[in-house]
Amino acid sequence: MPSFDILVKGGTLPSGSQADVGIIGDRIAAVGQLNGAEAHTVIDATGDLVSPPFVDPHFHMDATLSYGTPRINASGTLLEGIGLWGELKQITTLDQMVDRALRYCDWAVSMGLLAIRTHVDTCDDSLKGVEAMIHVRETVRPYLDLQLVAFPQDGLLRDPTAHVNTVRALDMGVDVVGGIPHFERTMAEGAQSVRMLCEIAADRGLPVDMHCDETDDPHSRHIESLAFETTRLGLQGRVAGSHLTSMHSMDNYYVSKLIPLIAEAEISAIPNPLINIMLQGRHDTFPKRRGLTRVKEMQAAGIRVGWGQDCVRDPWYSLGTADMLDVAFMGLHVAQMSSPEDMRRCFDMVTVDNAAIIEQADFGIYKGALASLIVLDAGDPIEAIRLRPDRLVVISKGNIVSQKRRNDSQLALPDRPSSVRRRHHVGTA
Ligand code: FE2
Repeated sequence: MPSFDILVKGGTLPSGSQADVGIIGDRIAAVGQLNGAEAHTVIDATGDLVSPPFVDPHFHMDATLSYGTPRINASGTLLEGIGLWGELKQITTLDQMVDRALRYCDWAVSMGLLAIRTHVDTCDDSLKGVEAMIHVRETVRPYLDLQLVAFPQDGLLRDPTAHVNTVRALDMGVDVVGGIPHFERTMAEGAQSVRMLCEIAADRGLPVDMHCDETDDPHSRHIESLAFETTRLGLQGRVAGSHLTSMHSMDNYYVSKLIPLIAEAEISAIPNPLINIMLQGRHDTFPKRRGLTRVKEMQAAGIRVGWGQDCVRDPWYSLGTADMLDVAFMGLHVAQMSSPEDMRRCFDMVTVDNAAIIEQADFGIYKGALASLIVLDAGDPIEAIRLRPDRLVVISKGNIVSQKRRNDSQLALPDRPSSVRRRHHVGTA
């Protein structure tokens, strides 16, 4: 029996099986019943859920934690949020963006969120946001994987210098090609932007992740163009469509043609339920549309779907805690994923499915995987979504990066048993 650096004993994996996890260096060296094993550090996870870390495939780290600067989004709409961000990016400094982003990364680590794909605005001639996020990516690299998407927020064709600045950002080392076709001036220019951006990605061998059809307009069909260009350019498996909210409002007949096209192109879908339920339907009276894309229907067609956070305390969203279980909780409700299988799937969506969407290598709990995992104060994935419990231990690349004492507060009430050890869940061991 080898001697481990860290041994996580007695936990329950998301599959329901109980297993010890032995870690040597930055790798998982063994998973199973490791009776008699020795380790420098032993973590007792009896009765706890031991899971791969959370992954967020869609975020805006250049804007996060800026809520209220220079003012609050009064209408609550996407379009006022874009306008407000346009004001903020004129006055915020590179150092402020770095400080806000690093504060968010600290939150993320404490929540067991260890990989984030963040869009960074490239519609700014100074590209200070790009510079700031590249600095943050390198700073947090030892414990958090940050992936940057070049995002022409004001439209690749609508903004006069967006094209040249997006290419400049990619030259600086941004990882993924983004876009926003529904914000271009016309449907035709939206389709043209999709074509141009996919060609840039194909030329450079980069993935694509486009804000696509984030609107209640059922005629916003840029996902169709994205599927076409993906197949034409051989980008299958490397393209994601973020939001896709117009699919909520589309005609069912058209969707019956569209979903097979998305599946054929192997495009992943990234709905962002907290933000979609907050921003969509704002022009409706009643009934008021939810605005979430067709999650279960796409999954049934074999399309990989993840849940994204999108925003935390910024021009579009006033709340948020970097907790992907909040995202899964909201997504589960809005998509009505209430069966036990669907609830478990929501947990997978914020862990293994999101990891696959953003191409995280060696991800999971198996021998040889990267030694990143979390110990949650819950018995299983469904309970984790119900409770959004403490992350008791967070291990990233073989190092313990966050720890929290278990909630064992004592109740002492008259006419009740003298005291109750108040754990929220019934342990499985
Ligand atoms: Fe977004």
